[in-house]
Amino acid sequence: MIIGIIGSGAMGAGIAQVVATAGHTVRLLDQNAEALQRASHSIEANLRKLAEKGKLTTEAANATRARLHPTNDIQQFTDCALVIEAVIEDLMVKQQLFRQLEGIVSVDCVLASNTSSLSITSIAAACQRPERFIGIHFFNPAPVMQLVEVIPAIQTRSGLAAEIRNLVESWGKLPVLAKDTPGFIVNRVARPFYGEAIRILEEGFADIATIDWALTELGGFRMGPFALMDFIGHDVNYRVTESVFTAFFYDPRYKPSFTQKRLFEAGYYGRKTGRGFYSYAPEAVPPVPNRDEALGNVIVSRVLALLINEAADALALNVASRDDLELAMTKGVNYPKGLLAWADELGIADVLDTLDHLYAEYHEDRYRASPLLRRMVRERQHFFM
Ligand code: NAI
Repeated sequence: MIIGIIGSGAMGAGIAQVVATAGHTVRLLDQNAEALQRASHSIEANLRKLAEKGKLTTEAANATRARLHPTNDIQQFTDCALVIEAVIEDLMVKQQLFRQLEGIVSVDCVLASNTSSLSITSIAAACQRPERFIGIHFFNPAPVMQLVEVIPAIQTRSGLAAEIRNLVESWGKLPVLAKDTPGFIVNRVARPFYGEAIRILEEGFADIATIDWALTELGGFRMGPFALMDFIGHDVNYRVTESVFTAFFYDPRYKPSFTQKRLFEAGYYGRKTGRGFYSYAPEAVPPVPNRDEALGNVIVSRVLALLINEAADALALNVASRDDLELAMTKGVNYPKGLLAWADELGIADVLDTLDHLYAEYHEDRYRASPLLRRMVRERQHFFM
C-alpha cells in the first residue's frame, strides 16, 4: 500500500517515519523545499539512532529509508491508497489542498487529516467524496507516542473507521475511536490538568513548584502541569485551550486563563524561548516546592476530580468508549492510570463530593459535576468493578 503524507513538519515527518518503518512506500510532500530536506535528514538520523541502539537492524533501517520518497510534486500522489495531511492548522488551506488532491488520486483513495483542533466534518465538507474522509490524529513525537485517535466525520462511510483502526494497529500503534467533537479525546479530557493548576496558582493557593511537586510526587504524573506546559510551548498549549473553548460554544468549563494568555502574548513560550512559567536561563535557580503533604493532597484531589469529571462526561456523551478513554489518557499523555479506573479507586462519591464542594464555593460552571457521576453514586455503580 502506497501512502502519501502532505506537510513534512514535526508531525508529517514523524508520521512518514512510522508508515515507512511499517513497510509502506511513502510519498512525502511539502511546499517548502527546506522543510522537506529537514524532514529527510531528521528521519535518517532517527533511523540511524534506532539501528545504533539495536532497535532496528541496519538492513531494516536502509529498507525504510529506501521506501521514503520526498517530493514537491503532488502529481506523484496518483498511486496512493491513503493520503494523510499534516500541513498548518488552517481550515482554508486544508480544504483547498483536499480539493486539489481529489483531482489527482483515484476515487477509492482514503483521505485523512492529522488536525488537532479543526472538525473533521468541516474539512471533509470540501471534498467531492466526503465519505472517504477521516481523521487520523497522531501525538508528538509520532514515532514514539503509541496512541492514534481515529475520528470519522459525519459524512464518513460506515466501515472506514474500523479499516483505519486495523491499519493503524498494523503499524504497531494503539488506535482509539473518537467522536468528531472539539479536542477529540485527549485534548478535551486533559484540559483541567493545565487549567485547574493555573487556577490554583492564580488564587495564590500554591506556587508553580509546589503544584508541580504535588502532581508528580503525590499524584504520580510524569511531569507537573507547569513544566509540561513549558515543554509543549505556550504558543501550542494556549492556542489549543483557546480553540477548544471557542469550539465548545464558549462553555465556561474550558475557559482559558489570563495567566497563560499573557505568557503567550509576551512570547514566553517555555523551554524553546528560555522562559515560560520557569526560567531556563543557565544561571536560573529552580524554585523550591513547599513539600507540605496536606496541601499537596488538596491540590491533587482538586485537579484529579476535574480530570475525572471530564472523562466521565466524555463517556456520558459517547465521545469514546470506556476502554478507549483509558487507553487515550495513559498512552496519549502518559497518565499513570486511566481516569475512570482512578475514580473507582478514589471512590466516585468522594470525587463527586470534591466537585460539589468546589461548585458550592465558586458557583462556576468549571466545577459542574457530570450527571453520570451523580447517577453512578446514586446507583452505587463503578466504572470497572
Ligand atoms: P509544522 O508547522 O511543523 O509543519 C507544517 C508543514 O506543512 C510545514 O513544513 C509547511 O511548509 C507545510 N505546509 C503548509 N501548507 C502546505 C501546503 N498547502 N502544502 C504542502 N505543505 C504545506 O506543523 P506540525 O506541528 O507538524 O502540525 C501539522 C498538523 O498536525 C496541524 O494540523 C496540527 O494541528 C497537527 N498536529 C500537531 C501536533 C503537534 O504537537 N505539533 C500534534 C498532533 C497534530
